[in-house]
Amino acid sequence: MSKPKVYVTRLIPDDGMKLLYEKCEVTLNPHDRVATREELLAGVKGQDAMLCLLTDKIDAEIMDANPNLKIIANYAVGYNNIDVAAATQRGIPVSNTPGVLTDTTADLAWTLIMATARRAVEGDKFTRAGKFKGWGPMLLLGQDVHHKTLGIVGFGRIGQAVAKRATGFDMKILYYDKFKMPEVAAKFGAEYCELDELLQRADIITLHCDLNESTFHLIGEREFGMMKKTAYLINTSRGPVVDEKALVKALQNNMIAGAGLDVYEDEPALAPGLAELDNAVLLPHIASATRETRGAMARIAAENVLAALEGRKPPTIVNPEVWKGN
Ligand code: GLV
Ligand code: GLV
Repeated sequence: MSKPKVYVTRLIPDDGMKLLYEKCEVTLNPHDRVATREELLAGVKGQDAMLCLLTDKIDAEIMDANPNLKIIANYAVGYNNIDVAAATQRGIPVSNTPGVLTDTTADLAWTLIMATARRAVEGDKFTRAGKFKGWGPMLLLGQDVHHKTLGIVGFGRIGQAVAKRATGFDMKILYYDKFKMPEVAAKFGAEYCELDELLQRADIITLHCDLNESTFHLIGEREFGMMKKTAYLINTSRGPVVDEKALVKALQNNMIAGAGLDVYEDEPALAPGLAELDNAVLLPHIASATRETRGAMARIAAENVLAALEGRKPPTIVNPEVWKGN
C-alpha cells in the first residue's frame, strides 16, 4: 500500500518530522521562509494532510484546492490563521498544539513583565554603548513588580500559568475572562473583574485571550485612557487584540508607562513609531521558542496528522463536531 501524503509548509523540529517520515510520503516546502500563497495552493494539491504554521493563512480557497484533505494540523496553539468555520463546513478536521507551550509562554510573559518594569533592555543597550560610568542613585529607575496588582485578560491555561508565577511575587491578581472560574481562581487568590475595572486597577496588564471577532482591538484608545499612567501592557497572545497605533500614541504620550510585546498587529511589520520607543520591549514572536517546547509542538502536530490519516480522532482537534467515529 502506498503511504499517505502529507504537505508540510515549512520545516519543523525533528521530533515531528521523524514521525511523519516513518509513515508518510512527505512534501516539505524547501524554503525556510513563509510559504507564498501560490506555493500553498500548489502544495496542498494531491495531498492527504497538511501541516501548517501560524504564518500560513489557510482559507476556503486553499481547502477547495484539494477536496480530499483529511486534516489541517496547525503547528501552534492559536489557530486564527485558519478559517475553521470553512473547514468545518467541508468536514475537515483542524488541530492545534495546546498544553505543551503553556508554561513556556507564561515564562516569556514574565520575561516581558520583568524586562519592561525593570528596564532591562534599555539597561543592556546603555551598558554596551559604554554609558555606564558607575552606580548612580537615579540611574534607570523602574518600578517594582512584587506586591503590585497583575491584571490577566484571558484566564485559560496560559493565563493561569502566569497567575501561578505571580503568587511567588506576592501580587494581587485580577482576571477577566468570558467565564468566571471561581475554583481555579481561588488557587491563586485571583479576583474576577470586568475588563474596565481590571484596566483601572491593574499595575501590569497581560493578555492571554485568543484572537477572534470579540477580542479584535480589545485594547484601544478608550482602554489606554482607563489605565494607570504607571501601568504596563504585556502582549504574548495575538497582535490584533491591541490597536497598535493607539498603543504607540499611548506610549508616546506617557498615558501608560510601557509595553512588552511578543506579537504585532501586522506581523512582521511594526506600527510606525513603535521601534523608536524606549518604553517598549519588542520580541519577535518567540513565546513558545524553546527547544523542548517546539519539539513537543512538532510531535503533537505530527500525531494529529497520523491519527487523521489512520482514521483515529486527532487528539487535539479544535472542531470535534466534524469527527464521526472514534
Ligand atoms: C504561538 O503563537 C502559538 O499560537 O502557538
Ligand atoms: C493555551 O494553551 C491556552 O488555552 O491558554
